[in-house]
Amino acid sequence: MQYSNTHATTYNDTVVRQFSIMAVVWGVVGMLVGVIIAAQLVWPELNFGLPWTSFGRLRPLHTNAVIFAFGGCTLFATSYYVVQRTCHVSLFCNKLASFTFWGWQVVILAAAISLPLGYTTGKEYAELEWPIDILIALVWISYAIVFFGTIGTRKVKHIYVANWFFGAFILAVALLHIVNSAEIPVGFMKSYSAYAGVQDAMVQWWYGHNAVGFFLTAGFLGIMYYFVPKQAERPVYSYSLSIVHFWALIFTYMWAGPHHLHYTALPDWTQSLGMVFSLILLAPSWGGMINGMMTMSGAWHKLRTDPILRFMIVSLSFYGMSTFEGPMMAIKTVNSLSHYTDWTVGHVHSGALGWVGFVSMGALYYLVPRLFGKKQMHSIKAIELHFWLATVGIVLYIAALWIAGVMEGLMWRAINADGTLAYTFVESVKAKQPYYMIRLLGGVLYLSGMLIMLWNVFKTATNCKPALASIPPVAAHT
Ligand code: HEM
Ligand code: HEM
Repeated sequence: MQYSNTHATTYNDTVVRQFSIMAVVWGVVGMLVGVIIAAQLVWPELNFGLPWTSFGRLRPLHTNAVIFAFGGCTLFATSYYVVQRTCHVSLFCNKLASFTFWGWQVVILAAAISLPLGYTTGKEYAELEWPIDILIALVWISYAIVFFGTIGTRKVKHIYVANWFFGAFILAVALLHIVNSAEIPVGFMKSYSAYAGVQDAMVQWWYGHNAVGFFLTAGFLGIMYYFVPKQAERPVYSYSLSIVHFWALIFTYMWAGPHHLHYTALPDWTQSLGMVFSLILLAPSWGGMINGMMTMSGAWHKLRTDPILRFMIVSLSFYGMSTFEGPMMAIKTVNSLSHYTDWTVGHVHSGALGWVGFVSMGALYYLVPRLFGKKQMHSIKAIELHFWLATVGIVLYIAALWIAGVMEGLMWRAINADGTLAYTFVESVKAKQPYYMIRLLGGVLYLSGMLIMLWNVFKTATNCKPALASIPPVAAHT
């Protein structure tokens, strides 16, 4: 096992290194599948008439790969790195930490095999069948033991705010996964949900929305609170705001799930409750975004020369944008237009590509040279190129889907004077074709940036010029 030694404390960086590399590898795989399904929506023949390559099977492969493989590996890597540095201790139980790495990779491989074969529970973002669910629970509980064990054995009294966010993410995901995956196995790789009817839908979207709130948000806010101050070399703008941000965010997220079930059989008051909590959610979300942005006070000039910092700050802008858009879409009258349309997919990707993708890339670019004992990434120009390809890619992706989504929503509700529908469904599909092409182009640009990152990470890891001495010491953040 290789360790790094900073400030006289020995840290376990092996597992951080493993997760960081796999985050980049799975990022490329997941986004490649995203590009393939985007192409299938333009040219359905690309399904090749085979069940394994059909859109319906590759779509969950894409979402699982980008969220749980790319996002998950990034979260494991960064949380293990941060908790050691901020607690001044090595990870609690190295063997268990290693189990989380290998266990998580087995989960990912099992997903990559079972989803194209058509095994699915049919619950979005929780498609994996019961044997894989059990493995996920075991890995996640081990993760919690390693993380909280490290916090418990810390040598500093204070628990830095990034750890609060990572901790909430770990606990909430354990709860969500265990409750939503309650199912009755009826054979190997086949189960039925323990819930029925509208309760099943409510539990599923309580899970689904909090997967966004805790997996795709709280965990990545943990990343933001450590890596933005580090890269900007500025303290967090307001520590008090970060505490308010934390409690307000985790309290509010838990209630907003019903906004996914507007105008369904779910009782009306539940839908309204979900809407109101979604609107309230704007405040803590923006509080966090402003805290991250204002951390740049006195360091804005660095954006001119530092593409890593640029990744982080642009990610915060997209966080602000998608958390403004989300509450608006949660308003029932707005949702009656946006639901079922590509507006939702545009919203998802402004959060996913802009916020989750960019903050991950920024943190990984920060981590990789340090983990491999190098002064900096192999090529700064390549980071710069990645940044611009990805930024243009996102803009094309989300602008195209906003237009396509609003257009199709309006087409569906347009009626003639005699009350008949003005457009057939097929006409709305045909009208979206050009925008699907633009989304595909955006996806290809975003993926090419990721391929450049893979090359840059490989070169940094294998470059034999060690320059650790010239890295500024990684001081724990207090
Ligand atoms: C090259 C980049 C990407 C491309 C081209 C892409 C493309 C796609 C496509 C075509 C869909 C299906 C949309 C539909 O059913 O109409 C989709 C869904 C989805 N993607 Fe991506 N994607 C990319 C990156 C990502 C990333 C990085 C994430 C998360 C971190 C992500 C998360 C999702 C989610 C959550 C959905 C489901 C959306 C919903 O149900 O509304 N994608 N993506
Ligand atoms: C204040 C914050 C947010 C609120 C209130 C919110 C609200 C919403 C609403 C109303 C929908 C549409 C539901 C529907 O019509 O079916 C939605 C969908 C979605 N949002 Fe957000 N959003 C927020 C932030 C985010 C962020 C930051 C991300 C990603 C990182 C994200 C990811 C998603 C995903 C993946 C879906 C699609 C779910 C599906 O149908 O598969 N949201 N959100």
